[in-house]
This record gives sequence, C-alpha cells and structure tokens, in this order.
Amino acid sequence: MKKIFGFIIAAAAALLCTMSCCNCGDEYGYVIKNGVAVYNTPARPADQVSMIGFAVEPIETVRVGFIGLGDRGDGAVNRFTYIDGVEIVALCDIEEDRVNDMQKLLAERGKPAADAYFGSRDAWKELCQREDIDLVYIVTDWKMHTPMAVYAMEQGKHVAIEVPATTSIAECWQLVNTAERTQRHCMMLENCVYDFFELTTLNMAQQGLFGEIIHAEGAYIHNLDPYWKNYYEGWRYEFNKVNRGDVYPTHGLGPACQVLNIHRGDKMNTLISMDTKAFNGLKVAEQFGETEYANGDHTITLIQTEKGKIIEIQHNVVTPRPYNRMYQVEGTEGFANKYPNEGYSIRTEGRNFDEHKAVDDLTGSASDGEAYLSDEVRDALMEQYKHPIARDIEEKAKQVGGHGGMDFIMDYRLIYCLQNGLPLDQDVYDAAEWSCLGELTRVSIENGNIPVVMPDFTRGDWNKLDGLTLAIKK
Ligand SMILES: NC(=O)c1ccc[n+]([C@@H]2O[C@H](COP(=O)([O-])OP(=O)(O)OC[C@H]3O[C@@H](n4cnc5c(N)ncnc54)[C@H](O)[C@@H]3O)[C@@H](O)[C@H]2O)c1
Repeated sequence: MKKIFGFIIAAAAALLCTMSCCNCGDEYGYVIKNGVAVYNTPARPADQVSMIGFAVEPIETVRVGFIGLGDRGDGAVNRFTYIDGVEIVALCDIEEDRVNDMQKLLAERGKPAADAYFGSRDAWKELCQREDIDLVYIVTDWKMHTPMAVYAMEQGKHVAIEVPATTSIAECWQLVNTAERTQRHCMMLENCVYDFFELTTLNMAQQGLFGEIIHAEGAYIHNLDPYWKNYYEGWRYEFNKVNRGDVYPTHGLGPACQVLNIHRGDKMNTLISMDTKAFNGLKVAEQFGETEYANGDHTITLIQTEKGKIIEIQHNVVTPRPYNRMYQVEGTEGFANKYPNEGYSIRTEGRNFDEHKAVDDLTGSASDGEAYLSDEVRDALMEQYKHPIARDIEEKAKQVGGHGGMDFIMDYRLIYCLQNGLPLDQDVYDAAEWSCLGELTRVSIENGNIPVVMPDFTRGDWNKLDGLTLAIKK
C-alpha cells in the first residue's frame, strides 16, 4: 500500500515538473507541458451548430448599418454606394462630424440619408437593435471588433468585421460560439485574398499548376511612420505599446491559408514565433512622449499544418522598408512570388499538361523550374487563369478602387453571396484562425519562443470540406 502511495506521489511530482499551468482555469486557456504551450479546444455546447458551409435564404436587398467612420470606414461606405441591391440604413461613429461627412457622401452619390448615431460610445447598440438591418459592418479599432460583432449577432444581424476580427483566443471562441448559437454569418473583412495576383494564383493552385502546395508565406510589412497619429485616440499605438507578437497577421495569413485549404482539408497545428527587440518601436513611443514599447520591430512566425505543410508569416510596421505582403506559394511542381516582382516558375519536364490550357505557352518557354517564366509568358498565363470572380468584376473594381480594387471585390462578394443565399467566402472559423496569431505568437515569444499547439476552432470539422470554394450562383 505504502509503495502504491509513494508511486502516486512521485508521478504527481513528475507531472508538476513537466507541466506549468497558465490560465488553466480558463476553458480557452493553455497549459505548458514539456516546453510546449497546448491550447484547449472546448467541446461544442449542445445548443450550437457548426457553421461549416453555412448559408441563409437569399436576401434580395441587403440593408446595412456601418459602425466606425474613420479612415477605413469612409472608404467602405463609399464602396457600398456602388453595389446594387444595397440600402445604407444607418451610420454610427462617436464623432458627429464623421457621420455628417458620410451623409454628404450619400447625397453626392444620389442615395437617401441614413439614420445617424453618434455622441456616445454605446450609440452603436441602438443601431444593432434595429429591426430593419440585415448586416452590421464594423470598422472600429481592434478592441471593439468582437464585442460589437457578438452583440450584433445576438440581435439577429449578420456581421462583417475589419481585420483582425479578435485580439485574444477568448474572443475567437466568443465569435465562433455566438455565430454557431445564433446561426448568423460572421465574416472578417480580409481584403488581401481578393487582390488580383492572389486570386489568379489561387485559381492556378486549385487547377494543379503548382502540383501539391507544400509551403506558403505572407506578411504585413508596412512602415506606418506617417500614420501613427491618425488613428482615433492613438488606438493602434496603444495596442502595440503593450503587446508583443504578430498583432496584425491576417493580410499575410489569409491568402496563405486559402491556398493551403486550411479547415477545408488541412489545419494549422503548431506555431513558433520570434521577434526582434523594439528598436524603432521606441521611436514610435517617442512620438507619443513615452519611453516604453513592447512590440518587436520584426516578428517571424512559422506554422506547421496537419498535412505536413509550412506557413511563414511576418510583421513589421516600423522600419523604412518598401511595402511587402511577401505572398509566396511553393508547390511540388511550381512556385509563385508576388513581391517585389510578380512571377511564376513551373516545372514542365515530364509533366502532362493536357488538362491545363496554358500548355502551349509553357512548353519550350519555361526554364523548367529554375528561373521565372518570362514576363510575356507570365502575362499570358495570368490571363488564362484569371479567377472567374475577377473576370466578372475587375473593371468596375478598378474604377471604384480601394487598394487598387480588391476592397470592392471583397464587398461585392459579401453582398453577392447574401443576395444569392450562398456560403460566404470567409466563414467565422477563418476569422478566428487568421486572427488567433495575435495571442498565440505572444505566448510563444513570452515563454522563450516555445511551440504553441493551436486550438481547433472547427472542433474536428476541419476535414469536412474538400478545398476552398468561392461560391457562384448556378
Ligand atoms: N483591410 C485593410 O486593408 C484595412 C486598412 C485600414 C484599416 N483597417 C482596419 O479598419 C479598422 C479601422 O481602422 P481606421 O484606420 O479606420 O481607424 P480610425 O481610427 O481612423 O477609425 C476608427 C473609427 O472608429 C470610431 N469608433 C471607435 N469606437 C467607436 C464606438 N464605440 N462607436 C462608434 N464608433 C467608434 C472612431 O471614432 C473612428 O472614427 C481597424 O480594425 C483596422 O485594422 C483595415
């Protein structure tokens, strides 16, 4: 008996040595075990239903309310005035003049005035409570995204949220749980997946031009020096000042996850992250008369997937580099690169191109996977593989604009899918998966760059869809 008791004590002690608890009591938390942070995936509550493949009945005229009319919100309202079958019913910002500016814009575009909400930090709740709104479009600072989206879904509204959708793992689960419980759409407004090179490359990848995709890269590298003071009450500085990690991961991660079919046949399992010290970050703090800044100048994250693929994501908003989202896609038979020059490399030798329309262009002109295709061949290939969505709306998107047109394609697709009762291009699991890097990279970095086992927001449903579909009406 004594022996058994001794064994139990020894086993418990050994367990304690290898496991240190971090917010263990939290069902959304993690445990560090043998030097690895393992996040919990809580069971789905009985009153919730998976959102995989979710669609609602067609909404002929989509009635929209906007919250947040700053730099980005203004552009969104403008773009929506160019989409047919939309009514801009309500506009909300804390600041009255921002609402008035958008009313003027509506008048200039020949649209009726919207109902206005302003003057308090809670006025947006009244907007969400209205009976005559289908979609709440949220363009505020990061910390308000999830609280607003959750409240709006609880009022029966579909929601679209600017990037990143969440700032913590707990918020990721709040979005997932609320969408599953209320059966409302929750789409993050990740626009970079709609850029022309990314759409074309996705189409090429889906048609097998690059063979099996094994690795993708993405980034947000954008020197924000001129902009720090523009954000309302300095919200972006305030966030970066106290958070290490990749706080703005979705522009890089979205296109990478799409091309790798994340939660449509594969899933992200483990990440590891590393940052530099805040060298230039301290200069940002100086702009605000302060002396401390947590976010590293450059943060690099590696992610391993269930199917043995790798994603690399970078973040840097403080050094004087040219804008770069990296975006590289590497397959067993080909390669795509976006920055600084768009290019492709395709292996031709020994391959049967019968199913690829571009065979005539490729044979004889490719360097057989050792160099980029010539610009002429690249352009012909890109024309052939232009994504049907881009082919459909490219001209108008370029006219309306918004980062060269990709923002308009994003809004157009959101409304098109709602009007036609189709699943949206980005579901609530994308929102959670692409945003969750914020907390997970911080946990990796703060614990000595340890691996972090990521939660599965689909709760095991990641293999139910066979690849990504951007739905088109039959
Ligand atoms: N996808 C992209 O390419 C892209 C580009 C820029 C910004 N963004 C995102 O858009 C969001 C907004 O960025 P921004 O540059 O417009 O910031 P901003 O500071 O210019 O605007 C934020 C607006 O939200 C309003 N606001 C804040 N709290 C509010 C509340 N409680 N009720 C009503 N209004 C409130 C503010 O008054 C302000 O007008 C951020 O999430 C940002 O990451 C995305």
